[in-house]
Amino acid sequence: MNTVKTVRELRAAVARARGEGKRIGLVPTMGNLHSGHAALVAKATQRVDFVVASIFVNPLQFGPSEDLDKYPRTLAADQERLVQAGCSLLFAPSAAEMYPDGMAGQTRVSVPQLSEGLCGTSRPGHFEGVATVVSKLFNMVQPDLAVFGQKDYQQLAVIRALVRDLNMPIQIIGEPTVRAEDGLALSSRNGYLSQEQRALAPLLYQVLSQVAAQVSQGRRDYPALLEQAKQVIAQAGFVPEYLEIRHALTLRPATADDRDLVILVAANLGTTRLIDNLHLDLDHDPQHS
Ligand code: PAF
Repeated sequence: MNTVKTVRELRAAVARARGEGKRIGLVPTMGNLHSGHAALVAKATQRVDFVVASIFVNPLQFGPSEDLDKYPRTLAADQERLVQAGCSLLFAPSAAEMYPDGMAGQTRVSVPQLSEGLCGTSRPGHFEGVATVVSKLFNMVQPDLAVFGQKDYQQLAVIRALVRDLNMPIQIIGEPTVRAEDGLALSSRNGYLSQEQRALAPLLYQVLSQVAAQVSQGRRDYPALLEQAKQVIAQAGFVPEYLEIRHALTLRPATADDRDLVILVAANLGTTRLIDNLHLDLDHDPQHS
């Protein structure tokens, strides 16, 4: 696996692969890779012949008080993991390569509605930063397909919308969240947790599962159900940011008649913000009677 740092080298390597008749896949990441990322690369290798991964901690998607500076940078370990996962090429640009004229005048891509609410409330501008950098990466690589994790559910919805709305001929694949044995969704930010917080963190997924079970059993008083579940999280020591049931495709607040649902949570544990979600399709749910 080669690592390239400039758009010029990236385009040259991708053009060579295309010249050999290969189909191209892209897995955009911010590095500090774990088995969840490896699963994204592995999925891409099943679908295409040449997989490009990118590692770029994108300043445009971080708010002023967020963890841009302390976000873990682990390039050597990441390269090893990518080789093992079957990646063909790593693109690891600098901020100056991605934003040569700085960020202030950078053209932005914004996806209204889907970017609002949920994580968009506490992270204003975040999804615009994501949509912008992902659009840039798509234009640089021009992949046939790109793979993203379902853990960032709202992000995946935003990316699907931008590809559709801007007529980009790229297939977007959402890969299921990879979890630790105790249920905690893998995330680079889990590394910020103390031992005690790490022991507490799986509660988020347990609560999502409990909410899903109650909905499966027919409960439809969502506000009351979610309020109770939030209290469980708060009593355990989290500061809940949101816990919501939304329509799985549109992300609008779910009504009692909706069948395709997603339950989404964001909560802070100390200074670490954790997110997770659970998709619940009542028409294909074994628990539902
Ligand atoms: O999910 C991430 O790691 C980032 O938001 C992404 C998609 C690589 C854009 O910077």
